[in-house]
Amino acid sequence: MNVRESGSHPVRIEQDVVLARQLARKLAGECGMRLVDLTKLVTAVSELARNTVVYGGGGDMDWQVLEDAGRAGLRLLFRDEGPGIPDVKLALTDGWTSGSGLGLGLTGARRLVDEFELDTAPGLGTRVTITRWA
Ligand SMILES: Nc1ncnc2c1ncn2[C@@H]1O[C@H](COP(=O)(O)OP(=O)(O)OP(=O)(O)O)[C@@H](O)[C@H]1O
Ligand SMILES: [Mg+2]
Repeated sequence: MNVRESGSHPVRIEQDVVLARQLARKLAGECGMRLVDLTKLVTAVSELARNTVVYGGGGDMDWQVLEDAGRAGLRLLFRDEGPGIPDVKLALTDGWTSGSGLGLGLTGARRLVDEFELDTAPGLGTRVTITRWA
């Protein structure tokens, strides 16, 4: 697997969520992703970027355009140094929220991508990596 291009984008305030979506859409388009896959990816980006702002206290979205056996893909890492998630299993349960959300962001995002990884611990922040192949 090769990394063709990479970068980082701040996810600090609500406006950054919009910009992160736009960047993901552009990169996914460059990967040759079909509209339906691109739309799924951008929806996942919305959810994860919003969590980064709301719960993580802001962070960054690192991106990588990948190439593997002739197909392109986009890998995104949402990382923050916020409070972390004490119970990952609970957080990955449909409908569970610690706030006033619907509790469907993480589970929804997981269903919309090909690869999903959540790495978090109390006091150590949160890292969510998603990958979608074209
Ligand atoms: N980056 C993060 N840092 C700390 N806690 C997080 C983070 N992302 C998610 N969580 C925790 O996981 C819970 C579930 O997140 P999820 O996105 O699924 O639901 P929600 O944000 O509460 O509601 P929704 O996204 O449906 O509006 C959150 O309520 C929050 O407690
Ligand atoms: Mg959410």
